[in-house]
Amino acid sequence: MTIFVLTGAGVSAESGLGTFRDKDGLWSRFDPMKLATPEAFAHSPDEVHAFYNMRRQNLLSAEPNAAHRALAHLEVGLAERGDRLFLCTQNIDDLHERAGSQRVVHMHGELLKARCTACGETMPWRQDLGVEVPCPSCRRSGGLRPHVVWFGEMPLEMDAIDDALREADLFVAIGTSGSVYPAAGFVSEARRHGIRTWEINLEPSDNARQFDEGRYGPASEAVPAWVEHILMR
Ligand code: OAD
Repeated sequence: MTIFVLTGAGVSAESGLGTFRDKDGLWSRFDPMKLATPEAFAHSPDEVHAFYNMRRQNLLSAEPNAAHRALAHLEVGLAERGDRLFLCTQNIDDLHERAGSQRVVHMHGELLKARCTACGETMPWRQDLGVEVPCPSCRRSGGLRPHVVWFGEMPLEMDAIDDALREADLFVAIGTSGSVYPAAGFVSEARRHGIRTWEINLEPSDNARQFDEGRYGPASEAVPAWVEHILMR
């Protein structure tokens, strides 16, 4: 059996990283069109860098929570009985990895990586980024950007994601409002393949009626309970 899990900002909310569309979410305080598009970066790179520098600093002081740990436990538990977890996240944080998950597909990129638009190199990055910072690989300044996917850009690893969705036996969306495509369309894709679908979220999302089952509550409680249920079967 393969379980396809898609996580969103709700899984990291209790680690102190803000969600986007909840009351007081990031997009109620910041305009995504001015901070999370290639055009914004071309026009105002300092503002875009400042936004991601702030988020990177928040991430470095955050810790994984019980939901991240439960998903790492699920990966091991499934492998022990010959089953598989495909963990795909829209989150750019590294909390799944820090909780112990071995294989995480970051479809929206990773905040703790930088990419040089001049030479194409992608590298681990924990410090602040700025237009004056030279690329450690090609030495040119001005080309480094956060290795994240902005609105209008293609999400990463879509071929592997499509294959995994086709092969999965169960699709579970955790802590995502289902507002941003293509991830928002995974549930209908799963249904087209005849796969059962579950939603785990603080409250029913706008897509809730597309799921066969829902479990509602804080991820730190709902995810460990669901993992226990799966591993007992
Ligand atoms: P959203 O902020 O849109 O949705 C977060 C979801 O998590 C909501 O449905 C909340 O109800 C739920 N939630 C909040 N706290 C929770 C908790 N403690 N436990 C469980 N659920 C909780 O975030 P995403 O769906 O991840 O993309 O957003 C998708 C994409 O939109 C992001 O990857 C980002 C953003 O714009 C880019 O920046 C390209």
